[in-house]
Amino acid sequence: MMKGSVLMYQVATVALLALACSLAFAYDPSPLQDFCVAVDKYDSAVFVNGKFCKDPKDVKAEDFFFPGLDIAGDTSSGQGSNVTAVTVEQLPGLNTLGISLARIDFASYGLNPPHTHPRGTEFIIVLEGTLLVGFVTSNQADGKNRLFTKVLNTGDVFVFPIGLIHFQWNPKKSKAIAFAGLSSQNPGVITIANAVFGSEPPINPDVLIKAFQVDKNVIELLQKQFWK
Ligand SMILES: *[C@@H]1O[C@H](CO)[C@@H](O)[C@H](O)[C@H]1NC(C)=O
Repeated sequence: MMKGSVLMYQVATVALLALACSLAFAYDPSPLQDFCVAVDKYDSAVFVNGKFCKDPKDVKAEDFFFPGLDIAGDTSSGQGSNVTAVTVEQLPGLNTLGISLARIDFASYGLNPPHTHPRGTEFIIVLEGTLLVGFVTSNQADGKNRLFTKVLNTGDVFVFPIGLIHFQWNPKKSKAIAFAGLSSQNPGVITIANAVFGSEPPINPDVLIKAFQVDKNVIELLQKQFWK
């Protein structure tokens, strides 16, 4: 091919890609909550996909403001971590903007247990201390799930891709602090153990006995834990 026609080919490829992207955006928006069941009467509707918008003339600076992320969450109960989330629930100005954040405090040896965010990719930056972090891929073609893990120190950043199971654990005696950014106004959290063993009503134990290939007493013990 001559130089000119190569350029034409590249221009055409870029144009086609741009068209494909704009077509992709022309389809339905991503869900902003677990589900959004349609209603026929508007007066019985609670929200659209996300939240209703405030009249712009009533919007104030406070709508975009959230104070107090300098204050540590209480890590004394549970597994020794505390997530102070700032999503559209806490900061209404985030509505439709596709972003949210969180402060995560860790007591010594505190754990933010394996969980996923069904609607958001997350990055964390360690402000103080050390964290062992990791995420696991979805089921791969070879049937395996690959773990990516790393020890992070102050100033280090790590990314957890959308939807994948991940965790953060403080392996040290001193506390740790991290901040997280998430690519959704409402990323959602599924804490794996709580969802599987602590659902209400509980999942039929026979399902879990077969899924986890353990005895009934193991499943009963897990279902009896305090998963909140
Ligand atoms: C997290 O910390 C806040 C502020 O101290 C506290 O109100 C909340 O109960 C804590 N959450 C958990 C799960 O311990």
